[in-house]
Amino acid sequence: MSPSPEAAAGQRLRVAVLLSGRGSNLGALIAARDAGTLPIDIVLAASDKPAAPGLALARSAGVPVYASDRRRFGKRSEFDADLFEQVRAVDAELVVLAGFMRILGARTVRAWQGRMINIHPSLLPLHPGLHTHEKVLAAGETEHGASVHFVTPELDGGPVIAQVRMPVRKSDTPERLAKRLLPLEHHLLVSVVGLLAAGRVCLEQGQVLVDGTPATTPLVVEVPKARRRRPAPR
Ligand code: GRF
Repeated sequence: MSPSPEAAAGQRLRVAVLLSGRGSNLGALIAARDAGTLPIDIVLAASDKPAAPGLALARSAGVPVYASDRRRFGKRSEFDADLFEQVRAVDAELVVLAGFMRILGARTVRAWQGRMINIHPSLLPLHPGLHTHEKVLAAGETEHGASVHFVTPELDGGPVIAQVRMPVRKSDTPERLAKRLLPLEHHLLVSVVGLLAAGRVCLEQGQVLVDGTPATTPLVVEVPKARRRRPAPR
């Protein structure tokens, strides 16, 4: 597939990031944008947790911020509607769920299908949900990784765009796995957002297309050795 008309015209993709915690993935997107390697504008960082450190990070980088609070809303649909009103108000073209711990309603997800991605710390379809590092160790697996997928109403169940992989060591603990995986996640997320910004990846009839061709397996993103060692951006 040739890049989308916007990408071909050199326009920057307008990205909203939803997060609930630390925000290191947002930090990786900001760093790549600032380095000039990712043609995006981060038009909003929004959270369901007003005290999320990721929002402070966004503020310090000059990214517009919206802090919601689930407790203010009776129904989930009202929380979603309020949040996505902000997303629409800034004309976001892509929504990135990066450590966003709220489950969005099916109606919201369907409205953004093909324009909303999530990063998940496992080799999906293995280990959807929480505690992925513990699950990998409990299952005695020899390989772990992370996935970026298009969001569908099924939790962590949408079509996977790309993955990073790493070996599990005998000495690993959940904490060690999480620490070693995080810089790989950052590289994966930046790579996938880059592909979307270039118009090289899209979702069509529930299937991931890469350069216009249906992808039968997720792309495997190779992470340069130097980036594996680099401390996670904060
Ligand atoms: C990452 O491990 C991501 O895969 C998961 O939540 C974590 C978010 O980290 N969904 P951060 O808030 O971006 O630092």
